[in-house]
Amino acid sequence: MAQPSLNIGMVGHVDHGKTTLVRALSGVWTDTHSEEIKRGISIRLGYADTVFRKCPECPEPQCYTVEKKCAHCGAKTDEIKTVSFVDAPGHETLMATMLSGAAIMDGAMLVIAANETCPQPQTKEHLMALNVIGIKNIVIVQNKIDLVPKERVLESYQEIKDFVKGTVAENAPIIPISAQQNVNVDALIQALDTYIPVPEHKLEKEAQMLIARSFDINHPGYTYEEIKGGVIGGTLTQGSFKEGDDVEIRPGLKITSDGVTRWESVFTKITEIHAGKSKVKKAVPGGLLALGTQLDPSLTKGDSLTGQVVGIPGTLPPTRDGFLMKLDLLDRVVGVTNESEINEIKTSEPLMLNIGTATTVGVVTSARKDLAEVKLKRPVCVETGAHVAISRRIDSRWRLIGVGVIED
Ligand code: GTP
Repeated sequence: MAQPSLNIGMVGHVDHGKTTLVRALSGVWTDTHSEEIKRGISIRLGYADTVFRKCPECPEPQCYTVEKKCAHCGAKTDEIKTVSFVDAPGHETLMATMLSGAAIMDGAMLVIAANETCPQPQTKEHLMALNVIGIKNIVIVQNKIDLVPKERVLESYQEIKDFVKGTVAENAPIIPISAQQNVNVDALIQALDTYIPVPEHKLEKEAQMLIARSFDINHPGYTYEEIKGGVIGGTLTQGSFKEGDDVEIRPGLKITSDGVTRWESVFTKITEIHAGKSKVKKAVPGGLLALGTQLDPSLTKGDSLTGQVVGIPGTLPPTRDGFLMKLDLLDRVVGVTNESEINEIKTSEPLMLNIGTATTVGVVTSARKDLAEVKLKRPVCVETGAHVAISRRIDSRWRLIGVGVIED
């Protein structure tokens, strides 16, 4: 399998069928954490790779598939492109994970179940998140059509149309499918191929990778010789990495000495690169990569490096423990049944901030009408001009209230 050329996100309300659809498209069931299987919901970001293919023999409409053999005529199918799916959790308490997933999506499928009225709270909140983060290439998947009569499919289609009017997804195609019964998945692949194109990759720039997951891949009982270094997973937003590169990870590690706390970059070497199920010598932007490193695996265990940035030493953006941002707040809180108005941001209120794949809490140290200065609980490595998704605690949950642009 070639290195994936882009990341397609799966977003939508809990249980609308995102994980089932990833399985239909890739054969991979992304819920693997034991707690996820027990509760039947996605908790962490899942990902899976697949190759989109097309039958060279079948006349119009052409057969799009992920199978090597055409189901209609038996011909060997041609590869179109390799893609990575990023499966975001749909539960309202997991918005921070959804937002860090959205940071690495080149486009997204908004999955909406036809057997429930549209919009459900997180259908709305996730679409708003795509809007805030600036993801414009969207395909709407109307799922579970096997569960309802034709009249309800049409009614649900109209509800979706009304819901997306005036939003970033206004002109997105709506593809009716059954992920579980594998109905119309070929038409969905065709729509994904058309509406979520491969983005332009900035290969000439300095490498920068956003970490979305990190792991300790060793098993109990491994001998000293068998132990492998820490593994980090994420997406290169620009530039390229090759095996053997020395890298810096920012903000790095929290060090406390003599009562003073500071964050220090971590330096390591890339020992292996995995992309699209294969080991590669060099990786470029597109899809999710896993980098083997010489790091002590205890540093990468359990996603502990999620939100950090990897690059060639000395080239990364600054590590900041606070910044000034220009605000663009939404009018109303979405994702709740009772949509209240969003009041201005006030001094000393805590905000949840998502920047790239990082989630941190910032306490507002000064606020004016459209500007806020925040002091962060956990620093981030980020460039001036970057976008920040801002959430506020409302009724004991973090709710997305707008976007900020880092000024300084
Ligand atoms: P979260 O990731 O937890 O937000 O859920 P999800 O959106 O990934 O939903 P998931 O794929 O886990 O599906 C939820 C339930 O709906 C499961 O029991 C699936 O078997 C079922 N389901 C998904 N797609 C379909 C479909 O097309 N038809 C029918 N009948 N059931 C479906």
